[in-house]
Amino acid sequence: MLNLPKLIGHRGVKNLAPENTLDSIELAHKLGLKWIEVDVKITKDKIPIVLHDDSLDRTTNFKGLTIDFLYEEIKKLDAGSFFYNHKTNIFIPTLENIFNFCSKQDMGINIELKPNQGFEIDNVKAIAKVVNKYKNFNNFYFSSFDLKSLNEMKKIFPDFHYGLLVDNFENAYSLEEYLKICENNKFFNFGLNKKLINSEIINKIKKNNLIITTYSENNIELIEANDLWKLGVTSIFIDDPSLFEL
Ligand code: G3P
Ligand code: MG
Repeated sequence: MLNLPKLIGHRGVKNLAPENTLDSIELAHKLGLKWIEVDVKITKDKIPIVLHDDSLDRTTNFKGLTIDFLYEEIKKLDAGSFFYNHKTNIFIPTLENIFNFCSKQDMGINIELKPNQGFEIDNVKAIAKVVNKYKNFNNFYFSSFDLKSLNEMKKIFPDFHYGLLVDNFENAYSLEEYLKICENNKFFNFGLNKKLINSEIINKIKKNNLIITTYSENNIELIEANDLWKLGVTSIFIDDPSLFEL
């Protein structure tokens, strides 16, 4: 079983450096975080890269869907100017760049499978190739909102750790249905939006022996974090850990 820490850097430390970049992950490490989370999807030439959105629009100086461009084109984009409001040399890293850094520093990685729609299987296969290059590094787990991605990855690596991410209980399944899915697929982790959390829900999830993680659109402050840990949340995805003891 993986030993997850109380705080996991969200897209590196997304409020302190451009999200999902090496700068952001290096800063997370410097600040003392032991684990980071990154969003992974593929380029047109099936290179797994670290980027949250389906498109390049929000976090680079270019527009278009990631899946329509080669990595050599994507690597030239400025992935830092949206954050600093001036030109930077910061680029969109590959998953391999992240593995390289984290395996050297023994930093844990939560790999969120976030494929462009229709590319779920290609995404999983390309990520598996990278994972296979790092045989001696196993300080990571996979998570996803997309059940298909988790199940496809599990076919390749049945013994790795998997977490299901859930943003609401209205669109697809109820909590009970999600818990059944976790049980049937032997997932170890249930990651839910902070807005869904109350003691009843936490107790139900814990009864199913799942490790609970939580994320939010905004940074989770220390006072709230203490309440979440007390309720039974194991790890919080943090955008800015500056006020926490690390
Ligand atoms: O895995 C937690 C969190 O990263 C999920 O939401 O949208 O930030 O990828 P998002
Ligand atoms: Mg994510």
